Amino acid sequence: MAQEKDNNVLSSASDAQRPVPEHIGIIMDGNGRWAKKRGMPRKFGHKRGAKVFEDIAEYCDKIGVKYLTVYAFSTENWSRPKDEVSALMKLFKDYLTTTEGKGKNIRIKFIGDMSALDEELQQLIVNMEAETASRKGLTVFLAINYGGRDEIVRAARQLAKEAAAGTLDPEKIDSAMFESKLYTAGAPDPDFILRPSGEKRLSNFMLWQASYSEFIYMDTLWPDFTPELLEEAIAEFNKRSRRYGKVEEQ
Ligand code: IPE
Ligand code: IPE
Ligand code: MG
Repeated sequence: MAQEKDNNVLSSASDAQRPVPEHIGIIMDGNGRWAKKRGMPRKFGHKRGAKVFEDIAEYCDKIGVKYLTVYAFSTENWSRPKDEVSALMKLFKDYLTTTEGKGKNIRIKFIGDMSALDEELQQLIVNMEAETASRKGLTVFLAINYGGRDEIVRAARQLAKEAAAGTLDPEKIDSAMFESKLYTAGAPDPDFILRPSGEKRLSNFMLWQASYSEFIYMDTLWPDFTPELLEEAIAEFNKRSRRYGKVEEQ
């Protein structure tokens, strides 16, 4: 499908021809440090980070990315100070109640254990998913109370239940069946996982899905992230040689 070229970033002919990744994963990190550098409370960084997320999602939709998975709150982030956790929950509610996240071409799906969130937030999530379900553009997987290990354990538990009930032969369990029990079932694995802020680790993000993802690390803190930097990441990704265990010539 031809992509619209009505933005400033994709300006040259060669840019227009370069492949657009199907699925990008982003670990949105560095909000706290960004705020600290400005002598502001950490929640100020989260607020700016949320705005950047909206801009990046819109940009991904525009250039034809099909899936964007963003890590917004990990299963481990509950261990942060109470006031920071509440500020983050409030931010999620604000995002879900403003019209800004809506009225676009983007389908929003939440991944993670929603049962631990308060009822109001759970309801807002159900509403937003329903409102955006029929949209045909970018699918955003918003990871909240998400942990890669938790996701794998949950899939294993579901399969174990089916086996215990006698509806599943354990010998029939294969990677595809396991994948069908993950939050991201049906979506391709991320082509690359981007982590800004200088940290070089996965922090429990997409452990199963990342098996052949490229990793791209950048020093910029998430609240300073821009579509131009995403273009740099895509250019870097396009230089990588993905072999999936084979040799270059195959
Ligand atoms: C990422 O930014 C947002 C969340 C984890 C919720 P951080 O809050 O981790 O920012 P740093 O890493 O402390 O700078
Ligand atoms: C990972 O960032 C989680 C999110 C970005 C939501 P963290 O800041 O929590 O990761 P660590 O603790 O530095 O590994
Ligand atoms: Mg961090």
